[in-house]
Amino acid sequence: MKKLLLPVLLCMSSVGFAAEPSAERQAEIRTLLQNSCAGCHGASLQGAMGPSLQPEALASKADDLLITTILNGRKGTAMSSWKASLEPDEVTWLVKTLKSGK
Ligand code: HEC
Repeated sequence: MKKLLLPVLLCMSSVGFAAEPSAERQAEIRTLLQNSCAGCHGASLQGAMGPSLQPEALASKADDLLITTILNGRKGTAMSSWKASLEPDEVTWLVKTLKSGK
């Protein structure tokens, strides 16, 4: 019984607390957002060719949907996969950051 507990706890913690990117990496991701995402989503992410990524626009959308969209892109649309540039934990952080508007 005891042997089972540790792996179970480890699993739970990795789901509950996705690692935040380092401060340096956060700055890089913000640069990517300005240099790459803003081209389609608008200079202030207010929406352009792609939909708005501002907090009001994202509030009603599930985190999972937004995370999957950034990681995998959406087939048949201009939204491509960013898996090559962003780790899943980084995308989780990015979605949280976009939703908070910070
Ligand atoms: C070439 C243009 C383009 C670029 C670059 C781009 N997107 Fe998109 N994005 C789109 C389009 C178009 C959609 C809407 C797809 C659809 O019709 O469902 C979209 C959808 C999304 C959505 C889902 C929004 C919603 O309301 O469901 C998110 C989140 C998103 N993009 C984030 C990003 C991020 C983060 C980046 C940069 C890493 C990025 N996009 C780069 C065009 C782009």
